[in-house]
Amino acid sequence: MKALVVYYSRSGNTKAVAELIAGAASADLESLVEVGVNRKGLLGYLRSGRGAMSKKKSEIETPSKNPADYDVVFVGTPVWGWNLAPAVRSYLGQTDFGSTPIALFCTMSSSGQEKTFASMRDEASNVNVVGEMAVEAAAIKNPVELQKKVADWVKGFGEVGGAAG
Ligand SMILES: Cc1cc2nc3c(=O)[nH]c(=O)nc-3n(C[C@H](O)[C@H](O)[C@H](O)COP(=O)(O)O)c2cc1C
Repeated sequence: MKALVVYYSRSGNTKAVAELIAGAASADLESLVEVGVNRKGLLGYLRSGRGAMSKKKSEIETPSKNPADYDVVFVGTPVWGWNLAPAVRSYLGQTDFGSTPIALFCTMSSSGQEKTFASMRDEASNVNVVGEMAVEAAAIKNPVELQKKVADWVKGFGEVGGAAG
């Protein structure tokens, strides 16, 4: 299985989970970088929540990896206001995944994953979504347990797209 992990992370949680997935799946990693948006401080926080809830997209730097070169692409977002981050909405909306399936993951404090995953599926309406995994931020502080959860989840995609390995 040749895998790619694409994620956006404001404060490091989604990045940490993305790295665990990449480790478990021997995957390439791609971090989405926004152009011209300030998400720091209280104003940045408010802008982020508002933007996510109103289904805004943001400008992102052109990703360097082509999803069509992979057997599966893992796409991750923080949950903001029970929704996905604008950068991930942009990525899902503008990317041609070809026939490559995607698996969704998110990190959050405590709630909003169902609505977030539903929104991600809507945004990637022509793409085959083959899995979902939500991780609570508190779980990131227990890496041994989280590593096992991630490894079990990733194992399920071993045959996606053809031969494993
Ligand atoms: C603007 C904003 C809105 C958020 N909304 C939610 C929410 O609706 N539900 C939730 O459980 N956590 C919410 N959180 C917490 C984040 O989802 C959580 O801290 C996440 O792991 C952050 O990921 P990151 O470190 O990769 O940016 C919110 C955080 C921010 C900054």
